[in-house]
Amino acid sequence: MLVPMRAILEAADKGNYAQGAFNVNAVCQIKAAVEVHEMLRSPALLQGADLANGFMGGCAEFAQSTLEDKKTGAKNIADAVRKYGQDSRIPVAIHLDHGRDFDSCVAAVEGGYTSVMIDASALPYDENVELTREVVKYAHARGVTVEGELGVLAGVEDDVFAETSTYTNPLTAIDFFRKTGCDALAISYGTKHGANKGKDAKIRKEIVIAIKECMRHEHIDGFLVSHGSSTVPEYIVSELNALGGKITNAYGIDVSQLVEVAHCGINKINVDTDLRLAVTRNLRELFAFDPSLQSSASIGGVYELLMKYPEKFDPRVFFVPLMDMVMYGNEKDTDVQRLSRAVEDGVKEALAPLIVKFGSYGKAPQVEAVSLEEMAQRYKNAGI
Ligand code: G3H
Ligand code: 13P
Ligand code: ZN
Repeated sequence: MLVPMRAILEAADKGNYAQGAFNVNAVCQIKAAVEVHEMLRSPALLQGADLANGFMGGCAEFAQSTLEDKKTGAKNIADAVRKYGQDSRIPVAIHLDHGRDFDSCVAAVEGGYTSVMIDASALPYDENVELTREVVKYAHARGVTVEGELGVLAGVEDDVFAETSTYTNPLTAIDFFRKTGCDALAISYGTKHGANKGKDAKIRKEIVIAIKECMRHEHIDGFLVSHGSSTVPEYIVSELNALGGKITNAYGIDVSQLVEVAHCGINKINVDTDLRLAVTRNLRELFAFDPSLQSSASIGGVYELLMKYPEKFDPRVFFVPLMDMVMYGNEKDTDVQRLSRAVEDGVKEALAPLIVKFGSYGKAPQVEAVSLEEMAQRYKNAGI
């Protein structure tokens, strides 16, 4: 069934493990992500980034997505999550990743998302608090979970770029939870978005421990989120490059560090880049394995884009000729079907080891099957 993210994170917090949160950009990725979680009897927390909503709303130039695109895309994503997750035996939540403003959050909730992130971390602190509080009021009245962000991660967050990280101050985190009433908080503690996190990137687990300790002292019932946490598997990058890709300087977070923080206070671990890399490798492999597909009437355009952009690994760049497959899961011929299966396999390969290592496998029965209506009532009773 579909649940608010809060139910999934409560189980992770109680069970002292972390829930992986994985980004999707096409219907077949949603199908694959739900299936691999089902296989591992794990709760599933899928996320659509603000621009993923734009893309799935039909805007191939997704960086230029309008609010209308995002509204359409949010509905397409949520419809697909409902299609594969509603009658599933595992709990499934769909979360807006890096919502950039109030309207994006509303578009996601109206489309059927059960959780939203408002990322106002680039704003001055008081404005971040104010905007996050507005989103909390709107979302909690509908039983929807809210994640905020404090501190700035190095790397690329949509169009927000910071040269260096500003780590989250534990005392400010407490103040932020109190003033906003948000459920979850993305912290900055040494991770970075994208595939270039630097060799031997070190995350500062003592920051997690400090924030969590302060939260316990102050009776704050919230969750901590690790963004920019892809592991960037070396074998996938080298296979991708052997198939004609040109991915350079690719380093992720060593998974052993994520396993550590999963057991000392991080409740949610965001991963997008690892899926992108595995899917792009599989696309390249498909055309190398069967060169007749390179001139396919339906998917030959994907091959052309792979050849044109060897340095890119965002599947959205290559999916442009297949928007009907992306948005609605329509697979009009066997070539499109073969491509979709390759995408699904990439998603499953990237996710399975992380679901096991972060500790959520086998935990589906621990998640309370709570509806949005019931959750809205609980927020109301608690005055948040
Ligand atoms: O954390 C950020 C996501 O990976 C961003 O994805 O390219 O859809 O904004 P995006
Ligand atoms: P990666 O780029 O490390 O996969 O981070 C994803 C993320 O934080 C999504 O919000
Ligand atoms: Zn992120």
